[in-house]
Amino acid sequence: MEVLSYQNTHAFAAQLDAEDPLAKYRDEFHYPQVNGKDVIYFTGNSLGLQPKRAQKFVDDVMKDWRDLAVEGHFYAEKPWWDYHERLAKGLGKVVGAYPEEISVMNTLTVNLHLLMVSFYRPTQKRYKILCEEKAFPSDQYMLQSQVRFHGLTPKEAIVEVKKRPGEHHWRTEDFVQKIEEIGDELALVLIGGVNYYNGQVLDMETITKAGKSVGAFVGWDLAHAVGNVALKLHDWDADFAAWCSYKYMNSGPGNASGIFVHQRHLDKKDIPRFEGWWGTKKDTRFLMQPEFDPIETADAWQLSNPPILSLAPYLASLELFDEVGMELLIQKQRKLTAYLEFILQEVDKQVDSTFEIITPKARGCQLSVFLHGEGRALFDYLMKEGVIVDWREPNVIRLAPAPFYCSFTDMYNFGQILKAGILSK
Ligand SMILES: Cc1ncc(COP(=O)(O)O)c(C=O)c1O
Repeated sequence: MEVLSYQNTHAFAAQLDAEDPLAKYRDEFHYPQVNGKDVIYFTGNSLGLQPKRAQKFVDDVMKDWRDLAVEGHFYAEKPWWDYHERLAKGLGKVVGAYPEEISVMNTLTVNLHLLMVSFYRPTQKRYKILCEEKAFPSDQYMLQSQVRFHGLTPKEAIVEVKKRPGEHHWRTEDFVQKIEEIGDELALVLIGGVNYYNGQVLDMETITKAGKSVGAFVGWDLAHAVGNVALKLHDWDADFAAWCSYKYMNSGPGNASGIFVHQRHLDKKDIPRFEGWWGTKKDTRFLMQPEFDPIETADAWQLSNPPILSLAPYLASLELFDEVGMELLIQKQRKLTAYLEFILQEVDKQVDSTFEIITPKARGCQLSVFLHGEGRALFDYLMKEGVIVDWREPNVIRLAPAPFYCSFTDMYNFGQILKAGILSK
């Protein structure tokens, strides 16, 4: 449906909901309540809602622990010793990878550090890292500390690609040009695939190709991309990637991170890697031998036995992704975000304030919006009225209508509340 034919009416939004094949999935999630009503939840880019079925998955583990204790490792309904492997197939579909290229472990920043051990190997000549300016702070700290660890300074080793003056988003050609300019001094490209602040989806395929053409390793931080946009990590030929699961993947607060390591780096003994007993082959692991014998898959990067109680809700959520598939989710996401954009434009016409959407058309769920003429009081109003948004001083809101649990009627209602909040000043 063309944006031109959108209407800012309750009936129109309800009609879109009636036509939405994913509408029934709203019932699969728990919503916080404000004033006795389900909230309108725009912060799935920060922490996804709880899938109802997650409770049973966690209860099952508690029950197996209660009834089986240590025997649960092998005799639980879903045995714990290889529980993490159950996530690989489903996640592979979400990120466009073979199951053997996927592992689930630790948290995102930890995993990026571990992957840099393997894929940032600076030499006298090739030591530079290319990233985007103002990357997520944890990524900046991670890159800086890695560089220092290797005896280099961030100033000499880290090259940031900037947005052009007056522009709110990056241009692909600026990444490519910088990569070519650095050439054989470039050791690693490591960038957020979807930017956390402006919601831009970078052209990961083109940037990966450019990085590889000068002989660098290329990795992606997919925190804001996974479960949100189409990914083809294997075909794009990325060397590695990592993501957290608590945003669009709805796995629960601080939950485990996933990694991707391209097939060509698997089943190698000589790759630099920090290792632990869960990365060694399963059939010999419990012989407790002194020599590490890596699993042939990305699980070779596993260090410890997996945290089953956190993987349980992740597995529950992944079941939903498996049922629906990324294609349908992305279809709805495009329509829903376009409708939200339309609603913002409509409200903009009716009030004195001006909304400036800084998210480019290359986007997933998220719209980042400057609310010129507005301040913190509007945020407080929205929250009081049950609209959960993310506010950045002085006047930016980030709205991420996740397609699993946000409706077109939510977008319409949000517009009404936003307008009332601005007019009530
Ligand atoms: C882009 C990006 N990178 C890294 C992180 C850090 O994640 P964690 O705290 O799980 O290490 C986040 C967290 O929101 C993020 O959005």
